[in-house]
Amino acid sequence: TWTMVNIVEEQVERIREQVGDARVISALSGGVDSAVSTALVQRAIGDQLTAVFVDHGLLRQGEAEQVERDYVAATGVNLKVVDAADQFLGFLEDVTDPETKRKIIGREFIRTFEAAEREVLATPGAPVKFLVQGTLYPDVVESGGGAGASNIKSHHNVGGLPEDLEFSLIEPLRTLFKDEVREVGRQLGIPEAIVGRHPFPGPGLAIRIIGAVSKERLDILRAADAIVREETTAAGMDAEIWQFPVVLLADVRSVGVQGDGRTYGHPIVLRPVTSEDAMTADWARLPYELLERISTRITNEVPEVNRVTVDITSKPPGTIEWE
Ligand code: XMP
Repeated sequence: TWTMVNIVEEQVERIREQVGDARVISALSGGVDSAVSTALVQRAIGDQLTAVFVDHGLLRQGEAEQVERDYVAATGVNLKVVDAADQFLGFLEDVTDPETKRKIIGREFIRTFEAAEREVLATPGAPVKFLVQGTLYPDVVESGGGAGASNIKSHHNVGGLPEDLEFSLIEPLRTLFKDEVREVGRQLGIPEAIVGRHPFPGPGLAIRIIGAVSKERLDILRAADAIVREETTAAGMDAEIWQFPVVLLADVRSVGVQGDGRTYGHPIVLRPVTSEDAMTADWARLPYELLERISTRITNEVPEVNRVTVDITSKPPGTIEWE
């Protein structure tokens, strides 16, 4: 942790130098990376920072509230919330291609931030010149920013930025792996509930719905995902798992039987993985009792889902996310 104290002090100093008297906007997403990078910048420059939380409507159950309430209480950050759920749904309508989803979400994210920036600019004060990004070392490598890298997926927080970007980037986590980011977060006093949270992709549930995104499909996936998280936490398995994507095969149906009748519902795929840094991963050997409880609850409580499956593919060859 001595190293992490050094990293905090070094970054705080660096951010102060880079920013000067300018104001800064932060891309707060609800995940650990943006929470820690934002808190680091908050520590460095305080009220010169405005954190913008774009609620794109693609988060999991309860996550928006966690940002708006718990994170603000812990950091004292000046938070501006933008409810953009309808806007994102509109742009994603009928879109099924994974990279197209990412590009649209990345583009709309930046547009929404630019709108928020204009509102912040309209208030008296120094010019807004910087945007905080929670980019980690593995993101840099996978997006082609590192030596010998290949462009596997255009992670929207690195590769998908539009060319008319008005901000200079502050990326204080760019050299760090996830476990180091969590340590930095602890040093900054962010509550364990946020720091210990599993990573979650910027494009959110949009890339966990295989098929087009709709409000109805998001609600189905949210209900299933909430059950998975509740049962995994209750079983004490959170720390054993790197990440636990729950995927809705929205264009697939299978026949089932429940009560008196035949059902024709959608499958849910459980994708629990263990990993050190997300660059490679293995499927998590979860206790059968936990899997059974998850399966029973999802098929009982989510009427549109009649089958629960487990993905037992390592990375490589499978990626962690299905899209
Ligand atoms: P994959 O699926 O490539 O994921 O094995 C590696 C890690 O990156 C996350 N991920 C993303 N994060 N924007 C993000 O911010 C994205 O477009 C994106 N795609 C994948 C994934 O959840 C895992 O932690």
